[in-house]
Amino acid sequence: MPREIIAAIDVGTTKICALMAAVTHDSLGNLALEMLGSGVTPSRGIRRGVVMDVPEVTAAIGEAVEEAEREAGRQMTSAYVGIAGSHIATMNSTGISPVDSRRGITGENMQQALEAARAVSLPENREVIHVIARNWKVDDQDGVQQPLGMSAIRLEVDAHIVTGTATAINNLAQCVLSHGIDIDEFVLEPLASGEAVLTPEEKQMGVIMADIGGGTTDLALFRNHGLWHTTVLDVGGNHLTRDVAVGLRAPFEVAEDLKLRYGHLNPERIAADEQVWAKVFGDRSERTFSRRFISQILEARGEEICDLIKEKVEESSYAQMVPAGVVLTGGSSQLPGFVEMARRRFNMPVRIGHPGQHLPIQGLSRELQKPSFATSVGLLLWGLREDQRALHAPVYTESGESVWLNRMGRWLRGLLPD
Ligand SMILES: Nc1ncnc2c1ncn2[C@@H]1O[C@H](COP(=O)(O)OP(=O)(O)OP(=O)(O)O)[C@@H](O)[C@H]1O
Ligand SMILES: [Mg+2]
Repeated sequence: MPREIIAAIDVGTTKICALMAAVTHDSLGNLALEMLGSGVTPSRGIRRGVVMDVPEVTAAIGEAVEEAEREAGRQMTSAYVGIAGSHIATMNSTGISPVDSRRGITGENMQQALEAARAVSLPENREVIHVIARNWKVDDQDGVQQPLGMSAIRLEVDAHIVTGTATAINNLAQCVLSHGIDIDEFVLEPLASGEAVLTPEEKQMGVIMADIGGGTTDLALFRNHGLWHTTVLDVGGNHLTRDVAVGLRAPFEVAEDLKLRYGHLNPERIAADEQVWAKVFGDRSERTFSRRFISQILEARGEEICDLIKEKVEESSYAQMVPAGVVLTGGSSQLPGFVEMARRRFNMPVRIGHPGQHLPIQGLSRELQKPSFATSVGLLLWGLREDQRALHAPVYTESGESVWLNRMGRWLRGLLPD
């Protein structure tokens, strides 16, 4: 049975977003979502995607959740929670499960192969967040997408393992659990964003998604419908704002406002004599600034962000694997001129990814269709997919519980120390 409600908490560097949706069916009878409520608050206590101040983050999450609950008219009891930041590390690993040739490949074989892949030795203070199957090998046959039920004697999985430091994970868990909300699963933010903004064709062909947020830029490479590579870069929209603040000798808030209202990544598109106004604290009247100068500042940092992305992709040696190019998302991707700049720097197709109307979600507001909400909306879709998996490929443990819905990722508030 699918659950009635799916909820998401996206703890970003600039905003915290809580969403609640009801599980329904679309006209074809497929599982779908209907938005019930949303809450967004400015973020505090987070730096570069990591919790720096537990009480502050807890309070901010509380505000976003309350707003969502009020609109939904019901309580949030559990949620999918996004995780990111420079503490995230990834590696590849393989796992094998012998198959009983009379029964064929069972869900237990798949689970066993994944568990074997997961059994890598990790440095102390590191925990596994995801074990994602990149590729299934059935006997010697490579690239099998759904091995369930196939006859074989051996099943092998190439898995992508995502880990984080136990401290960062526990701190974030505490901020959510202390509101009486269980954590269905921690989901790596770029994986969630990928759910919301990529098409199945892009994920099949090979695509890079870059979620350029406030404090970080999350990169993920998808291919053959699977995740191949992920990286988190310590750079985002706050750096663009900070550069403007330094360049104009203006406070951060003024620079942010100027960036949002007049920012453009291509100074040549801005008339040389165009002036813009802003009130700077301490000044009696408004000051004027050259809009082209602001654009020149943004261009320099924008190019640096593009080059960092390119470098990371080339480092991973997967650059040849992405014919579908790059999909930019996250709040900062809305800066005018980003697509053109990225096309020039990457020499690849580039588009902006919106968590838009193509998704199986009814009642998604215009605000939530902005690229800033790719992760938040993607977390709901991740939850929905867990339900779909449970329906289509039920895998049961000896105790009769569905493994997919009761995986190692679940954090229960009852486990929180008093
Ligand atoms: N229209 C816009 N033009 C330019 N920048 C924008 C626009 N809207 C939002 N931003 C920038 O996007 C950033 C916030 O993006 P987003 O909401 O995706 O970040 P976040 O999820 O809070 O942070 P992170 O994912 O990095 O932890 C801010 O730096 C903000 O200035
Ligand atoms: Mg984000």
